[in-house]
Amino acid sequence: MALAAATLGSSPLVSISVSAARMNSSGLSVSFGARRVPGISVQIHSQRRSMVMAAAARGEEGAVKTFVEEMRATAMRLHTKDQAGEGEKELKGPSLHEQEPNLEAYLRFLVDSKLIFQTLENIVNRAAVPCYAEFRNTGLERSEALKKDLKWFGEQGHTIPEPSALETTYASYLEELSKKDQQAFFCHFYNLYFAQSAGGRMTGKKIAEKILNKKELEFYKWEGTLSELLQNVRKKLNQVASSWTQEEKNHCLEETETAFAYSVDRLRKIFT
Ligand code: HEM
Repeated sequence: MALAAATLGSSPLVSISVSAARMNSSGLSVSFGARRVPGISVQIHSQRRSMVMAAAARGEEGAVKTFVEEMRATAMRLHTKDQAGEGEKELKGPSLHEQEPNLEAYLRFLVDSKLIFQTLENIVNRAAVPCYAEFRNTGLERSEALKKDLKWFGEQGHTIPEPSALETTYASYLEELSKKDQQAFFCHFYNLYFAQSAGGRMTGKKIAEKILNKKELEFYKWEGTLSELLQNVRKKLNQVASSWTQEEKNHCLEETETAFAYSVDRLRKIFT
C-alpha cells in the first residue's frame, strides 16, 4: 500500500524516487536494490557506485578531501539548484519555496523530527558501538529543543499528533543500522544534523515568516557557536572514518541517497 511518495528529481548521474511502502506483518518494508530498507524505497536509475567514483574524480584539482568533505559533496549533489548553489538535481515540480506551508502538517513534521533526533541521541547515549560515545552531547542535539517547541504549540491550543508510520519505521531503521552497519548509521547521523544546520534553518525561517508570525522556534537555535559545534563533529567523524577501509567509506557515501530521501520526504509533507 503506497502511503506517500516524493520524487527527488533526476540528473544524468542519478535519480531517486522515494515512496512509502506496502505493509507487512512487521510494519512497513520495501526493497532497496539488493538490500531491504524499511518504509522507503530508493530506486536509483543509474549506478550509485559510478556516481560516487565520478564524484571523487571531480574533486578539486588534486586536493585531498577529508572524509566529511566527501560526505558533504555527496549530499550537495543531491540538492536541486534552487535549494543550494552546489545542487545538481533537476527540479521536478514546484520548488518548496513556492509552496505554502500548512501548520498542521508542520506540527507533524516537528513531531516526526523529534522522534528521529531522539533516536539518534538514544543511540549515541547507549553507545552499543563504543565510538558512538564520542558523539554524546555535541551541542547539535535537537530533541530537547523540539520538546520545548511542541510544548509551546500545545499551550497555544494545538493538538500534538503522534509520529507518522513512516518516521517510526525510519527510527527503527536507524536503530538497526546503528547495531549492524555503523558506516551507514554515521551517514544518517551526519546528514540529519548538518542538514538541520543549513537548509533546515533556511526552511524554518521561511515557514516562520509565513505561518508563525516570524516566531523563531527552539529547533533552529543552538547553544554556543554553531560553526564550532559543527566543526567539532566534523573532526570526530573524520577520526572515526580514518579507521575505515575504502569500501566502508564508499558504503557510507552510498547511504547518502537514502538519508536524503527520508529527510526530503519528511520536509515535503509540510507543504501538502
Ligand atoms: C528544502 C530542502 C533543502 C534546502 C533548501 C537545503 C539547502 C542547503 C544549503 C543552502 C546548504 C549550504 C550550502 C553551502 O554550504 O553553501 C546545504 C548544505 C547541506 N545540506 Fe541541504 N538543503 C535541503 C535539504 C537537505 C537534505 C534533505 C539533506 C540530507 C538529509 C541535506 C543535507 C545537507 C548537508 C549535509 C549540507 C552540508 C552542510 C555543511 O557542510 O555544513 N540538505 N543545504
